[in-house]
Amino acid sequence: MNRDIVCIGAGYIGGPTMAVIAKMNPDRKVIVVDINAERIAAWNSEDYSIPIYEPGLVDVVKEVRGRNLFFSTDIKGTVQQCDIVFVGVNTPTKMFGRGSGRASDLQYWEATARSIKEYANGDKVVVEKSTLPVRTAAAMEAILNDHASYSFTVLSNPEFLAEGTAIKDLLEPDRVLIGGPETEEGHRALEAVVDVYAAWVPRERILTTNVWSAELTKLAANAFLAQRVSSINAIAGLCEATGADVDEVARVVGADRRIGPKFLKAGPGFGGSCFKKDVLNLVYLCETFGLHTAAEYWMGVIKMNQHQQERIVSRLFSAMFNTLANKKIALFGFAFKADTGDTRETPAATVARLLAEEHVRVTVTDPKALDNARRDLADLSGVVYEADEYKAAEGADAIVLMTDWRHYPTLDWRKIYDSMRKPALVFDTRNCLDAAELKQIGFRVLNVGK
Ligand SMILES: NC(=O)c1ccc[n+]([C@@H]2O[C@H](COP(=O)([O-])OP(=O)(O)OC[C@H]3O[C@@H](n4cnc5c(N)ncnc54)[C@H](O)[C@@H]3O)[C@@H](O)[C@H]2O)c1
Repeated sequence: MNRDIVCIGAGYIGGPTMAVIAKMNPDRKVIVVDINAERIAAWNSEDYSIPIYEPGLVDVVKEVRGRNLFFSTDIKGTVQQCDIVFVGVNTPTKMFGRGSGRASDLQYWEATARSIKEYANGDKVVVEKSTLPVRTAAAMEAILNDHASYSFTVLSNPEFLAEGTAIKDLLEPDRVLIGGPETEEGHRALEAVVDVYAAWVPRERILTTNVWSAELTKLAANAFLAQRVSSINAIAGLCEATGADVDEVARVVGADRRIGPKFLKAGPGFGGSCFKKDVLNLVYLCETFGLHTAAEYWMGVIKMNQHQQERIVSRLFSAMFNTLANKKIALFGFAFKADTGDTRETPAATVARLLAEEHVRVTVTDPKALDNARRDLADLSGVVYEADEYKAAEGADAIVLMTDWRHYPTLDWRKIYDSMRKPALVFDTRNCLDAAELKQIGFRVLNVGK
């Protein structure tokens, strides 16, 4: 087996993961391929205008691109060159037919498996990097090995990185998970992939399991994280009604070592491409296996999340004298969290849409996600996109802070206040601004869970 690696899918997962694998394995050639020629051209652009914003990523790409990391659209040629084939194509929620709105849409994955089979010129280890429903590997192996001239072993190596901290997460992972079939070939393939990570990850952090455990663990891990966010948001509403402060509650709850402090921040709800999709996938799997109470339990996590955004708009409504029509509201931040330009499933989009229904004049500002916002809200007429926060706030009745961009607390809030229509309201859905200071300036202030 040769040591070169191809990754099919040059997205948020394929790009950063392979960049770090190439950086830490200078003796391996790593090639990232995609059917999207525009995306590949961006990865190859001379001025490094790479298609993903991720802190530290461009530096890694500068270091390794052309050395041992390559981006290409030649899927056939690269699959023939490499014996280890990672697959990081998208697996969105299926929006048609059976399982619509819940199940994973596996058409891109299956198409990829078929092209690997068509192009292969020798045995291949196929590594699932995408998040997939448990037992997908069995289906993939069936496609790959049906009347095949070569042998294909399918492993599961789900990715746990978080957008915004992808490079750090990849360089210092809590754990790397690799699941493989319990056969001799399976063990050999597993060792080959363990070897890729062992170049920099301590062995004790490389956990190996059977394939099904690895596939299911990724869904379970995301469901647990999403559930914590929904749990604290469920407490936030109660805090608002009772005079408790959700940040104080979270601090003390999280001080219990059995619980821990992470993912206990009340806010506008979770976003990003993974949590909702993966929890829905889990719901679908539970239903498929007749575990209806478990399905309902996980569905509650999604419902709570949606409710959080509806609550933001309801609270604005009451705070702004029960009419929002023709008022100007500036959304500060559109990315689903700070340090990323990713806007998939961002709570800001839901809030923008709910406000537009109320005939609000919506202005969106964001340091990294303005183009994505423009694309995502293209069907809403009248939304204004403004890179400069001060201009975005001019004449506004309210600012709704949706993303906790680090520089927002350091803006000149007095200048912002002076340019707004009075009474001026700030709804800080991330609880990241100094509320006392804002009140002193003259703002009316709303927070989540206070
Ligand atoms: N984004 C994250 O933070 C994250 C974290 C962990 C896991 N994942 C999982 O990784 C997978 C990919 O997610 P992403 O965010 O990178 O998606 P993405 O949409 O950014 O990238 C997927 C890429 O695959 C390409 N592609 C699709 N079909 C193809 C084919 N047949 N041949 C070649 N290329 C093809 C697309 O053109 C696209 O560029 C998903 O299953 C997701 O759940 C994502």
